[in-house]
Amino acid sequence: MKTAIITGANGGLGVALSKCFAERGYKVIATVRDMNKSTSLDDLINSGANVEKAELDVSSDSSIESFLNLFFSNHSDLDVLINNAGINSKSNGEFMPQSSLRLGSLERESLNHIIDVNCTGPLLLTQGLIHRLQTGNAACVINISSWLGSIGKKTGGGNYGYCGSKSLVNMFTRALAFDLQEYGVRVFAVNPGWMRTKMGGVNATLNPEDSAEGILKIATDLPVEETGGFFNHDGSKHEW
Ligand SMILES: NC(=O)c1ccc[n+]([C@@H]2O[C@H](COP(=O)([O-])OP(=O)(O)OC[C@H]3O[C@@H](n4cnc5c(N)ncnc54)[C@H](OP(=O)(O)O)[C@@H]3O)[C@@H](O)[C@H]2O)c1
Repeated sequence: MKTAIITGANGGLGVALSKCFAERGYKVIATVRDMNKSTSLDDLINSGANVEKAELDVSSDSSIESFLNLFFSNHSDLDVLINNAGINSKSNGEFMPQSSLRLGSLERESLNHIIDVNCTGPLLLTQGLIHRLQTGNAACVINISSWLGSIGKKTGGGNYGYCGSKSLVNMFTRALAFDLQEYGVRVFAVNPGWMRTKMGGVNATLNPEDSAEGILKIATDLPVEETGGFFNHDGSKHEW
């Protein structure tokens, strides 16, 4: 049975991805920041889906280490890793939105926290898992990016923390793709589209379930020749 790890699965795209991969026969390790407070996966797990909940805060080294120890003791190979956990200016912990958004109000800790959660944490988690990815069959890492990470598509100022972090996700994707190519591991950055989630809000155009279906196809179907690319959830290429 194939195994997938999906981070940030306490709602939104993370739950949709967990459902989608479990329905296609994967054993899903769905991670949440706090086991006791995270209930969004409960209906899915209670319905009998092959989804196991595990605790992981990607901004904490000790949390990453505990998660890796748990994963290594229970699983041998890893086929898909989806670095989905993410925050924007509004979900940036105790920081005010303007502190990562607007020139004149920017603050170091706020900017660093977004980069930590969206980029540094996912990269360190991936690094911790590379030996298991290397033994998987055509394993795949998907880093959830955003159209807001596209430098070519940026037409206005502001939103420094989130936009900058997603551009960095794209660069990390490309570097990882080169480093993991010799093992046949494919690495993609994916813009999931504007989805109706806590982050995307009610006016968004996409169901996270539809985005998840597209992301699953990318993970299963895109060949190694495309590794290091930036794609939309429907498989079309995204401008850098
Ligand atoms: N929604 C959109 O329109 C949109 C558009 C482009 C890209 N994206 C990207 O898509 C991904 C999923 O977003 P979403 O829309 O599903 O947002 P969401 O509903 O806000 O979900 C984000 C998830 O990330 C988790 N998370 C936050 N900080 C974390 C940390 N330090 N460690 C581990 N997990 C953490 C959250 O956990 P808690 O519930 O515990 O906070 C939550 O489960 C993100 O990377 C986002 O940037 C979303």
